Amino acid sequence: MRGLQTGRHNHVVFARATVKLLGSRLDVYVFVADGMLVDTGPSKLARAFTVFFQSQAIDRAVLTHFHEDHSGNAPWLVKQGVPVYVHPAAVPVCEKPARLPLYRRLFWGRRDGFSPRALGEVLQAGDKAWQVLEVPGHSFDHVALYDPERGAVFTGDLFVSPKTRIIMRPENIPQTMRSLRKLLQYDFRVVYCSHAGVVEDGRELVARKLEYLENLRGEVLELHRQGWSIRAINKKFFPKTLPLTYISGKEWASEHIIRSMIEDS
Ligand SMILES: [Fe+2]
Repeated sequence: MRGLQTGRHNHVVFARATVKLLGSRLDVYVFVADGMLVDTGPSKLARAFTVFFQSQAIDRAVLTHFHEDHSGNAPWLVKQGVPVYVHPAAVPVCEKPARLPLYRRLFWGRRDGFSPRALGEVLQAGDKAWQVLEVPGHSFDHVALYDPERGAVFTGDLFVSPKTRIIMRPENIPQTMRSLRKLLQYDFRVVYCSHAGVVEDGRELVARKLEYLENLRGEVLELHRQGWSIRAINKKFFPKTLPLTYISGKEWASEHIIRSMIEDS
């Protein structure tokens, strides 16, 4: 079992784990601020994460979305008496054990059912009132947690990287773009991202991501209008197939970016 790296940025404590499978590696971050844990990490690293949780004063937890790399240790927290909040629409999903394809079970571990609480518009974290922003696209239930007093935002998997090259089949890129646009209406600078960690110039990079997607969408829709197939457009913009596409049986693919842009238009 590999351990976690922990650190602090301003008032936020973070823990980072690195998961590896067949040449792919990915960092996973969880954050603690004002007694609130944001996301819980995958159950594959339960031992390391639960040691970290016990070292922190955590009185509640919130999931940015239901995916197993964010919710994997939520059942453990609930058993310890820590309330875990999720988007109301994700409550029934979390109550049942996650049904995951083999590669995700190997990569992240399983996620048992647990009883979460439904998020409202505001989440009390210590003496701070965080705003719950609905930012779907990566998943139907995705939220960002915004601390207006400090201009900090916890973005889960909304940002991840300024150039999206691969997404999961159910993701909706135009919806992600609307969510990025919505986020930019708020006054923030630092982004706390579940995979990129502490992003100091978060606002700038979120704007850059939106611009990249807007440009790509324009070109994709133009080629589609000219009669190009989704497959041909994908080959043009993403000529290299990433290993994760093969590993996941195409659950992860760049083609989903193109398809979701065309289907939404
Ligand atoms: Fe996710």
